[in-house]
Amino acid sequence: MVRQHNSWYTHYMNTVAVVFYSLEGHTKYLAEQLAERLGADLVPIQPKKTYPTKGFAKFFCAGRDAILKWNIALQQPLPELESYDTVVLCTPVWAGTTSAPVYSFLKQTDLSSKKLFLIATCRGGSTKRCFERMRKTAKGASILGEERFVHPSEQTQERDEAQIESICSVVQEHS
Ligand SMILES: Cc1cc2nc3c(=O)[nH]c(=O)nc-3n(C[C@H](O)[C@H](O)[C@H](O)COP(=O)(O)O)c2cc1C
Repeated sequence: MVRQHNSWYTHYMNTVAVVFYSLEGHTKYLAEQLAERLGADLVPIQPKKTYPTKGFAKFFCAGRDAILKWNIALQQPLPELESYDTVVLCTPVWAGTTSAPVYSFLKQTDLSSKKLFLIATCRGGSTKRCFERMRKTAKGASILGEERFVHPSEQTQERDEAQIESICSVVQEHS
């Protein structure tokens, strides 16, 4: 069972937050798996304006914002992360790079005192530029690692098991 990030218990007991943005559910599914196994809090990033989920508009709007590195408006208040030592940050890949909501979150949040594990989900393309942008934008954070997943879902759980376990070991070792 995943606890909410503002409950009394997690506020005082947890040091790991799994922060994610997901348009179509793959990244959300993975973030939920990670949070559950780590006993971590699950913290969504929410753009003020939601992206279209269908057709040309989806690729046009989301692709444009990622390519142009737009620092988009996010719902306020931004996630409160002061009480966490470690953040597992999960993004979909958009147009070969970090999704605009996660890029904007990094621009608007000071993670310089945090340990950060980077996760990208994609449909099979490269995640190199996505991780480069995340590292560059998360100024000062200590990066624990980065992992790429192709369309994680219930159907790929067996395929992804070892990778998920390995992320959890690294995070637990450092938190
Ligand atoms: C606008 C847009 C651009 C995308 N660009 C890429 C890409 O360059 N490479 C890739 O492998 N997948 C790309 N994808 C696929 C997503 O990265 C992939 O489906 C991801 O798992 C979606 O995560 P979500 O379900 O949490 O939104 C793109 C998806 C969208 C909506």
